[in-house]
Amino acid sequence: MAVVTLSSASGSPGVTTTALGLALLWPRPVLLVEADPTGGSNLLAGYFRGTREYDAGLIELALTASDLGEALADVAQSLDDTTVSFVAGTRSHTQAGALRDLWEPLAHALGDLESTGQDVIVDAGRLGLHGSPQPLLDAADLALLVSGTTLPNLSALRSWAEAFQRPALDWHQSGIVLVGEGQPYNARDVAGAVSLPVIAALPDDPETAAVFSRGAQPPKRHESSPLIRGLNSAIASIHSTITRRRTELLEGARS
Ligand SMILES: Nc1ncnc2c1ncn2[C@@H]1O[C@H](COP(=O)(O)OP(=O)(O)O)[C@@H](O)[C@H]1O
Ligand SMILES: [Mg+2]
Repeated sequence: MAVVTLSSASGSPGVTTTALGLALLWPRPVLLVEADPTGGSNLLAGYFRGTREYDAGLIELALTASDLGEALADVAQSLDDTTVSFVAGTRSHTQAGALRDLWEPLAHALGDLESTGQDVIVDAGRLGLHGSPQPLLDAADLALLVSGTTLPNLSALRSWAEAFQRPALDWHQSGIVLVGEGQPYNARDVAGAVSLPVIAALPDDPETAAVFSRGAQPPKRHESSPLIRGLNSAIASIHSTITRRRTELLEGARS
């Protein structure tokens, strides 16, 4: 498929949880990149509960003198028993500025991975922070804004949605992933209020979310939990959104 970024307009709606959940259920090999300028690896501290060491990550990539594609393969760590690998973020937010010159070449290197059969999911954290990986968002096939459904959430979403608009004849698309649909607003309300399509709506499911966000024990019937079902539908929707646009562009180029 392609490169998909996730970021948030306000608060802490569940970007990291959603990014990891999508990666773990992704039907093809996938690389998860922790590009949140807030710093600290959410994966190592959260999902792995600090049991796994920080080896290398984005900073080592920024410092590499070798080919970025090769360096990417070197710093990526694999998640046992899965086809997911990940690149750990910075150790601290103070390192975020040092990544400024990495984002452009990294965007190219991530795009090139598709030819190797690997897709990419980027956790870009909150928008507008110093050290934000904007070039990754600009180059993505699909840039997703993750948002809660309260009025303050939607007000922030509206404010950022404009910046996400792009010309229709471009491969790049953007959209919204709602977390906690119906609390109180649902996908239809949001679609009416914000000028970006709602690509997916995930249920409020704190028990399952805690598995991804802090390595909690999976609840009974984890596989059929509301969040897992929601994530699987989100994957199908992400896939069809990207495929549809690519088909349109190909047909446009032929005619
Ligand atoms: N779909 C969901 N349902 C319920 N709680 C969720 C959901 N997604 C995330 N959370 C919870 O929200 C909190 C913040 O999640 P996190 O992914 O760290 O947010 P962010 O990366 O946007 O800061 C965590 O406690 C996480 O378990
Ligand atoms: Mg996060």
